[in-house]
Amino acid sequence: ALAAASAALAQQYPSKPVTIIVPFSAGGPTDKVARDLAEALRGPLKSTIVIENVAGAGGTLGAAKVAKAAPDGHTLLLHHIGMATSPALYRNLTFKPVEDFEYLGLVNEVPMTIVGKPGLPANNWAELQKWLQANQGKVNLAHAGLGAASHLCGLLFQQSLKMEMTTVPYKGTGPAMTDLMGGQVDLMCDQTTNTSAQIASGKVKAYAVTTLKPLATPALSKLPTLDASGLKGFNVTIWHGLYAPKGTPKAVVDQVNAALKTALKDPGFIKREEELGAVVTADARVNPAEHKKFVEGEIAKWTPVIKAAGQYAD
Ligand code: MLT
Repeated sequence: ALAAASAALAQQYPSKPVTIIVPFSAGGPTDKVARDLAEALRGPLKSTIVIENVAGAGGTLGAAKVAKAAPDGHTLLLHHIGMATSPALYRNLTFKPVEDFEYLGLVNEVPMTIVGKPGLPANNWAELQKWLQANQGKVNLAHAGLGAASHLCGLLFQQSLKMEMTTVPYKGTGPAMTDLMGGQVDLMCDQTTNTSAQIASGKVKAYAVTTLKPLATPALSKLPTLDASGLKGFNVTIWHGLYAPKGTPKAVVDQVNAALKTALKDPGFIKREEELGAVVTADARVNPAEHKKFVEGEIAKWTPVIKAAGQYAD
């Protein structure tokens, strides 16, 4: 009976516009990935797709909202590494990343860059080191809240430099980037989906990338890796996945996963991602089992790192 009901529901799914919740403010990297993905998903899912930004608390408010949404496939979540880091950062997290969601598939991986305000008197990594040493205790670093990729990278960056910075939280690195370009904050670690254009246009300074290998895109290929610049082993890449509330019928989960797999083969989507330094997840990995296994591995990887930093949000 359940299978029949599930199949019946899938027959009529989607029966109204599908909302993808983005747990950070508009104009940031998560929003960018979501809007580009929605463009490619609209056709395969045969549905209007609405992006809803539910920002705050480093992405945990948006994720919690989807965990509690009706499990009918019309409310989805596009989230990133924050799904794996939030349990270590929030002792009273109102959702369980593994148990409270249906996993619909991984989407992409995005490198990060260390970027600075235009007026920062340092034009490369060596000069930035000198400036940081000379300004110990006065440097401020923007991020998008505990649970954000920019927060995680910022934490690791301070630990590797053995330097405390004043951290300035935003509801996303969209608004944070505006303040960085305006010189209100000094530095940020942010995803290339949000920094590539500003680096190419000289609106912010760029110092290094957080991957082990240099990046291929023209605007970023000259940047050294942090690993090769003295922060040995520094390696942070931000992945994104698509989720539905636990209890969404399997037939619907399978339908959305199939549409996602088609969307990730969309040449326009792949081109846009690559232009921004992102890598679309390989088709063989875009399935619920692989997605869940990957996130469980990321929780195991990042929990001790975050607990060692002793930073809790609550
Ligand atoms: C992050 O740091 O996690 C991102 O900035 C989130 C966003 O604004 O998309």
